[in-house]
Amino acid sequence: MTTGLKIKPADGKLGILTPGMGAVSSTFMAGVIASRRGIRLPIGSITQMGHIRLGKRTDNRQPLVKDFVPLTRLDDIVFGGWDIFEDSVYEAAVKAGVLPMDLLNELKDELDAIRPMPAVFDNFYVKKLHGTFVKKGATKMDLAEQLIADMKAFQKDNGCSRLVMVWCGSTEIFLKPSDVHQTVESFEAGLRSNHPDIAPSMIYAYAAIKLGIPYANGAPNLSADIPALEALSKQTGSPTCGKDFKTGQTLIKTVLAPAFKARLLGVSGWFSTNILGNRDGEVLDDPGSFKTKEESKLSVLDTILQPELYPDLYGNLFHKVRINYYPPRGDNKEGWDNIDIFGWMGLPMQIKVDFLCRDSILAAPIVLDLALFLDLSKRAGLGGIQEWLSFYLKSPVTPQGLYPEHDLFIQQKKMKNTLRWMMGEELVTHLGREYYEDLSQDDR
Ligand SMILES: NC(=O)c1ccc[n+]([C@@H]2O[C@H](COP(=O)([O-])OP(=O)(O)OC[C@H]3O[C@@H](n4cnc5c(N)ncnc54)[C@H](O)[C@@H]3O)[C@@H](O)[C@H]2O)c1
Repeated sequence: MTTGLKIKPADGKLGILTPGMGAVSSTFMAGVIASRRGIRLPIGSITQMGHIRLGKRTDNRQPLVKDFVPLTRLDDIVFGGWDIFEDSVYEAAVKAGVLPMDLLNELKDELDAIRPMPAVFDNFYVKKLHGTFVKKGATKMDLAEQLIADMKAFQKDNGCSRLVMVWCGSTEIFLKPSDVHQTVESFEAGLRSNHPDIAPSMIYAYAAIKLGIPYANGAPNLSADIPALEALSKQTGSPTCGKDFKTGQTLIKTVLAPAFKARLLGVSGWFSTNILGNRDGEVLDDPGSFKTKEESKLSVLDTILQPELYPDLYGNLFHKVRINYYPPRGDNKEGWDNIDIFGWMGLPMQIKVDFLCRDSILAAPIVLDLALFLDLSKRAGLGGIQEWLSFYLKSPVTPQGLYPEHDLFIQQKKMKNTLRWMMGEELVTHLGREYYEDLSQDDR
């Protein structure tokens, strides 16, 4: 039993800044504004609608998460961000076509007032986009300093006591960690020498982390997932997490795969394909950006199924992921999965999943929860990688030497137990009461 952490209260305003103000970001902002006006519910958000069990089952304590841990209230959130297009959030939301026009028009006054700051962008890292609202600087360090100045000015102008950054920008090309990413010194030297392995998302992450501002990466590109920025985040006490919001197909995958594993059903093949027609889909039509997404989507099955421990069941699994840009569908993605499984005596069976989802509707509550929980971590004095937020991420970043946890239910348990631990509540082990009560406090 711990006594809990000393958590500073969530006094004052929290600025949530998103590099990238497209479909996900505008849907997130519109949803928060609609929720605080009381005209829609923040469905899918654990910080707003989730309950958490405390103590024994017989204690009957199930408060709302937001009443249990000190979170920023929706009324205290201020929105900001950067984009390579000058559109206001209202205009971006209209173009994204996710939310109905009657709702957007009801929120127009507030959404139209949220305007992006000019972006740090380089077409080399996102081939399909050609934006004009872009900062100029002789070096990548100059650009980082401009972002730092933007954040300081935003905080002052909006009277915010704290800021959080959540990357909602496009998926960049596939990059592997290289020498320049290894230490804070090599990274800063690389910023000064315009090293090509430093992508714009890394410059944003560096700027936030340098200021001790929490940083989450909602896309699969490396961004803060490099030793240099991990080290910096520990130095500055900046909580971080990433990568890639776990929304449609992968959410379902990390629910189904643990079920097969739990019942020791074999899997010989898993074919996943998608059609989507939004700007994200267009960006992912470029092989460089797709490779980044593919790696992220492919990573989940191996760690859940553990083929090295179960070679007879999962040793020959063929896993394929496809994303097809298909404009007529817009943001309404369709994801098909064909899963070939086998059971007793090796006899084969099939499962087909057809998920007609709405990408940004699934991602928006994740942006909100990550921002509020990272701000909580910051106030609790927890810097560096926040593995307990893996629940929300397709490709969770872990401290060096640890493998990520992908099983949604293990991730959920970890998240809830972390909240209990922060507040000095007993961890829930799910051990039966008849045994539990025999144990001394220390054995629980
Ligand atoms: N919607 C989902 O379910 C989901 C799930 C997981 C990950 N993601 C990721 O979230 C990100 C956002 O998705 P979306 O659907 O909103 O895409 P989007 O194309 O609608 O929005 C992305 C925005 O980022 C801007 N942008 C690109 N590079 C930038 C830069 N360097 N600085 C500032 N702005 C920049 C683009 O102009 C665009 O407006 C994508 O990377 C996507 O892969 C989305």
